[in-house]
Amino acid sequence: MHVWSKLSSPKWSDAWEERFSGSPHLSLVITEVPGRKTTRVEVFCERKKDALEIQKNFGGSVREVKQQNWAALAPEPPEPIRVRDRLVIVAARSAKEIAAAQKEFPGRDIIAMPADLAFGTGHHATTSTVLRFLADVAEKWQKEGRGWTLCDLGCGTGILGIAAEKLGAKKVWGCDFDPQAVRVAKENVVRNHAERCSFVKADVLTWNPKQQWDCVAANIFYDILTDAFPTIVRAMKPDGIVFVSGILKEQAQGCLDAGRRAGLEFDQVVTKGKWVTARGHLVAAKRPKN
Ligand SMILES: C[S@@+](CC[C@H](N)C(=O)[O-])C[C@H]1O[C@@H](n2cnc3c(N)ncnc32)[C@H](O)[C@@H]1O
Repeated sequence: MHVWSKLSSPKWSDAWEERFSGSPHLSLVITEVPGRKTTRVEVFCERKKDALEIQKNFGGSVREVKQQNWAALAPEPPEPIRVRDRLVIVAARSAKEIAAAQKEFPGRDIIAMPADLAFGTGHHATTSTVLRFLADVAEKWQKEGRGWTLCDLGCGTGILGIAAEKLGAKKVWGCDFDPQAVRVAKENVVRNHAERCSFVKADVLTWNPKQQWDCVAANIFYDILTDAFPTIVRAMKPDGIVFVSGILKEQAQGCLDAGRRAGLEFDQVVTKGKWVTARGHLVAAKRPKN
C-alpha cells in the first residue's frame, strides 16, 4: 500500500472528493491540520503506480505505508444516481457490470462512470443539477421535434456530454485543459458507446468557437466562467441555452452579473448545498447575427 499526500486549501475539498471517492483501488482521507489554514489530502492506493500517477498530476509526495487494516479504508461502492426517469449513472467499469445495471434499472439509459482521475461521477451537486437541467431540456426539445447539439466546456469524465447523447443530442463536442480528463472522457465514450461525442484538449480561456451549439454546458468554476462568458456567448446559437455551474453561493451574484454583461439572461437558478447552477439564454438584443 502506498499513500500520496499533499497540503491543500479547504476550498478544494469537494474537488478532491469528486476525483478520488468511490474508486475500488483508492481511498481518500482529508484531514484538518490543527493551527493551519490548509487541509492534508491523502489518497491510499493499493497499487504504487496509482500513487505515482497522482503525484505526476498533482505534485505532493508518495510513501509506502505498512498499516494492516486496509478493510477499514475500503470505500463503499457509490450509490447509483437517477436522473429524472431517463438515466441512471453507475460506477460500472466492465461490460458485465453495465449489463447487470441495465437489468437492475430497466427502461433507463445506463451511464457508466467509474471513479477515475477526472471530475464527474455525477455525485457532486454541480454535476447532478446540470444533468437534471439537461434531462428537462431534452424532453422539451424532443416534444418540439427539435434536433440539438451540445458543447461541454470543462468536460472532466465526459459525463454531461455522454448524458446529452443518451438524451438525444445528435452531436456533442467537449473539451478540458487537463489531458488526464480528456483521456478518461475518451475511455468513457467507448465504455458507453457514445459515438456521437468527441472530446479534445483545449483551454476555454484561449478557445475560439468556430460554430454554435443549441446547448452549452459549462460546469467549470466561477472564476473561469467569469472570464469565459464572452466566449460562451459566441458558442451559443441565437436561440440556444447555457447551463453554468461550479459557482459557490457567495460568488454567484458577481459571476452571473459577468454573464449578464456578456449578453445573457438567467431564467433558472438552483442552489444545492453551497453550489449554484444557472440556466441562461441570450438577451434578444445581444444575439449574435449567425
Ligand atoms: C467541476 S469539473 C466538471 C466536470 C464535468 N463536466 C461535470 O460536470 O462533472 C471542471 C472541469 O473543468 C476543467 N477546467 C477547468 N478550467 C478549465 C479551462 N480553463 N479550460 C478547460 N477546462 C477547464 C477541469 O479540468 C475539470 O475537469
